[in-house]
Amino acid sequence: MDKFSFDTLGWAKIPYEPELKSWAQNALPYAIDAANDPKHHTEWLRSQGTWFVGVDALDNDPDGCVHGSDPLRGGVLKAAQYATGQEAINWGLGQVSVCYQGYPKKGDDETDGMFNYRRNRDFAHLDGLKPIGDKRRRIMDEFHGFILGIPLNDYPAKASPFVIWEGSHIIFRDMLQSLYADTPHDQWDTIDITEIYQETRQRMFDECKRVELHAEVGEAYIAHRFSLHGMASWPDRLDGPAEGRVIAYFRPYWNGDMQRWLT
Ligand SMILES: [Fe+2]
Repeated sequence: MDKFSFDTLGWAKIPYEPELKSWAQNALPYAIDAANDPKHHTEWLRSQGTWFVGVDALDNDPDGCVHGSDPLRGGVLKAAQYATGQEAINWGLGQVSVCYQGYPKKGDDETDGMFNYRRNRDFAHLDGLKPIGDKRRRIMDEFHGFILGIPLNDYPAKASPFVIWEGSHIIFRDMLQSLYADTPHDQWDTIDITEIYQETRQRMFDECKRVELHAEVGEAYIAHRFSLHGMASWPDRLDGPAEGRVIAYFRPYWNGDMQRWLT
């Protein structure tokens, strides 16, 4: 991958490898089964059935094997090692993100404001920054190493791609450093960052370039853990595969020194 792109823009493409294509082709039926399994639907089918969120829905091993396949290695492993500064990667369970034609429709649990933000702003967010309670106050309570996206099937580039704001990871890093510098990490989740997060996010919408990432089966992309990112709407009249557009995401939890996570 292009390390300069990752460092400066906050994302990089991982070029085609036949091994990754085989991995994706093997994982696809398990991902589709997970998305079609009613036991997951209450929790993960959103936006009137146009999006299966599928957190932890891929039952892969820690090294990325899916039901006896090869582990994740090659370019994706190197990219993960670069993003974390660590040799050993425990991938955690993959997210199976399946988007269907017509995304987004207004979810039962969504206000008009949330739905408009989803439709017009790609539901842009920073991973780990959860809205808490009725007033949706923001605290940081999940710490990921990176976001890696691996397409599992063929779909048009405009079929609800991953969206990223280039350079936003540097602005967020500076924001988080100034907030947390004098606080031990086990107390970071006591700091309410709602207002500064909203101001910083607006600054990113104003200053950073919005880019849609697409990859073919056998390719992948990696985004920095502090990148502002989201998912684009599915354009009207765009046809896609009946099983939806299927992407496996890996967002392993940070394993190590939290000051290094912050820098
Ligand atoms: Fe996210």
